[in-house]
Amino acid sequence: MRLLSIRLIVSLIVGITLVSLSSSYYEALGEKRGLRRDLERRAEVLGESLAGNVERDLEKDSVQDLQRIVQHFGNREHLSGLAIYGRQGDLLAVTPELASTLAAVSSVMSQALSENHGTGGFQRVGDASLHIYALPLHQHDEVIGGLAIVHDAGYIRAESLHIWRETFLRALAHVFLIVLITLLIVRWSIAGPIARTAQWMRALRTGRISSRQNATDLDLFRPLVREVAAFAESLTQARSAAETEARLRETGESLWTADRLAVHVRTRLNNGRLFVVSNREPYMHMRHGKSVEVIVPPSGVVTAIEPILRACDGTWIAHGNGDADLETVDEHDRLRVPPEDPHYSLRRVWLNKAEEEGYYYGFANEGIWPLCHIAHTRPIFRAEDWKYYQAVNLKFADALLEEMRDVEKPIVLVQDYHFALLPRLIKEKRPEARVAIFWHIPWPTPEAFDISPWRRELVDGLLGADLIGFHIQSHCNNFLQTVDRVVESRVDWEHFSVRRLDHLTLVRPFPISVDFTDVQRPESTPDSYTERSALLKALGVEATFMGVGVDRVDYTKGILERFLAIERFLEKYPLYQGQFTFVQIGAPSRSHLKRYHDLMAEVEAEADRINWRFQTDKWKPIVFLNRQHNHQEIQSYYRAADLCLVTSLHDGMNLVAKEFVAARHDERGVLILSCFTGAAHELRDALQINPYDINQTAEAIRVALEMDPEEKELRMQRMRKTVREHNVYRWAGSLIAELCELRLDASDESKEKPGASTAAWG
Ligand code: G6P
Repeated sequence: MRLLSIRLIVSLIVGITLVSLSSSYYEALGEKRGLRRDLERRAEVLGESLAGNVERDLEKDSVQDLQRIVQHFGNREHLSGLAIYGRQGDLLAVTPELASTLAAVSSVMSQALSENHGTGGFQRVGDASLHIYALPLHQHDEVIGGLAIVHDAGYIRAESLHIWRETFLRALAHVFLIVLITLLIVRWSIAGPIARTAQWMRALRTGRISSRQNATDLDLFRPLVREVAAFAESLTQARSAAETEARLRETGESLWTADRLAVHVRTRLNNGRLFVVSNREPYMHMRHGKSVEVIVPPSGVVTAIEPILRACDGTWIAHGNGDADLETVDEHDRLRVPPEDPHYSLRRVWLNKAEEEGYYYGFANEGIWPLCHIAHTRPIFRAEDWKYYQAVNLKFADALLEEMRDVEKPIVLVQDYHFALLPRLIKEKRPEARVAIFWHIPWPTPEAFDISPWRRELVDGLLGADLIGFHIQSHCNNFLQTVDRVVESRVDWEHFSVRRLDHLTLVRPFPISVDFTDVQRPESTPDSYTERSALLKALGVEATFMGVGVDRVDYTKGILERFLAIERFLEKYPLYQGQFTFVQIGAPSRSHLKRYHDLMAEVEAEADRINWRFQTDKWKPIVFLNRQHNHQEIQSYYRAADLCLVTSLHDGMNLVAKEFVAARHDERGVLILSCFTGAAHELRDALQINPYDINQTAEAIRVALEMDPEEKELRMQRMRKTVREHNVYRWAGSLIAELCELRLDASDESKEKPGASTAAWG
């Protein structure tokens, strides 16, 4: 840095001096030229004004008058004197001061007389610098003599020297100031931030801190800072992964981590390439004013699938429905994501309005969604929607087949109820591809499923897959019973498989989960009490206890039942009025559908009604935040809450329950969990409730708030152990292992298995 400063300063001094001196040189030269031109003009003007008088006196031959003229004009500013010559160049009158320069004057005069016009120039005579101007005098166009005007031009040189001195001093002052300012800038804006960055990097290297540097004073190096910050983050992650691995080895635990999944997936894929298909894309590009923002949509599928793709650089095919999606893809409709740290490819499929309406809003969300969730919203099946559902499944199949064209061992993970027909469409064209579909929502009983007019087509489409995954065993059972009932096939209850049209499909439970590898609490997070106070203050509420709920606003989530339970709790235990506030984070969802649009209004109205009933100046029982929140915001609510309410009326898994548990590093907080969620099968230490039973939920809220801290801790510890051991990496690992290990020709294996039954067309 010192060498850099010296080099910088020397270059500045040399540079600025050269620039200043050359500009001064031109300035002085210009000034000198101006003064000389000025003097020449002055001599000419004086000559012309005297010529008339001198000509008259010459005519009269009056030497005395001529002598008077030369004496009279001889002492003007910078004028050294005058000399008057006769016709033959003979000197008639002269200012005495010109005695020593007469030879030079006479020579100029001779030239003027011979050329018959005024002539002049600058000359050095001895030490003096002179300007001599001579002009011929006339009478009737005949030359009768000449007049010479001599100026002392010495002052021009003095003036130039003065300018040079001034310029030199000014350049000196400039150099000094610029060097000073540069040094200060270097110190404040470059040396200081570099030193701080170096300190920060040293601290990272030695593992003393793990957080991101606040880089506001490093604006100048923004691109560099971005790279270093990403580098630092990878280093922190690598270190924490290594520590986790070491700790796991030490404790003999076998925990799944992102790194383990990466190795596992790469080994299992054995040079194969992974393709994921889902309706919802992991990154949406949305226009926000003039800029484009990247949004991660609220979806359990996105949360679960992202780590797998990151681990093995596959291709994710999804509907591109962000309003700036089209302009962010290449000519093959692909882009690399995550945008800030690309790890895999996203291929976007475009749907027109009618397709989106019929396939997504209509068949998937008004038909299959309420069909599979027993939440007492009646499914709507329209023939038109079914046509679009088929067409869009075909469209995605074409996109997938195009992506797989040159891939030898494609492995395909289809996601959810939007693509029940896709597995068969793919296998018909690429029988050697390994295809699994994971059904993220519940599978209802065969009787409930029976009402779908296209039940056979849906089940048949699914049975094209080699593997079908559900969250829990009872969904697998429901599915197999449905298969048994609606299509001709052999269901093997011993091996949980189905043979149909000479193709074997395995059906397995894979309970999905969340990322839970950060065993230690992040240093920077405040304790729950401080965080709770800050959050409530920001919401403008004063309360001692806080509950939280985080959901898409969906009728399956039991948000209205939850609010009723809060009302009942406050009625029954009035001591908690003014003390307990429930914060409901509700991400708007599918609001284009009337059922969802109305639900949002109902939830808002219900919160208003209950608030109106109980609220005081500084407190209200329910704060409804109806917008999407990012991961960090939600995490701070999870960490700060005394309890989390998950009251789904029916839910495949419900990852909010597991996210809440994973966020509680402090081993506090109570989870109140609907027994109709998949999560309830694993989280036995939650306070399990039937969300339809308002009194029971109200009572659970009281129990949670009054629970002995030791019991709270014990329950949370046990739930954390479960989620940690059954995290999303384990889910993905077992799903991929099962898919990669199954024998595609294993069909024969169970052909004649005892216990296999042949189902009739239902
Ligand atoms: C559920 C479904 C997902 C879906 C998510 C959000 O979790 O299982 O497939 O992505 O809801 O719903 P949306 O319709 O907004 O994608």
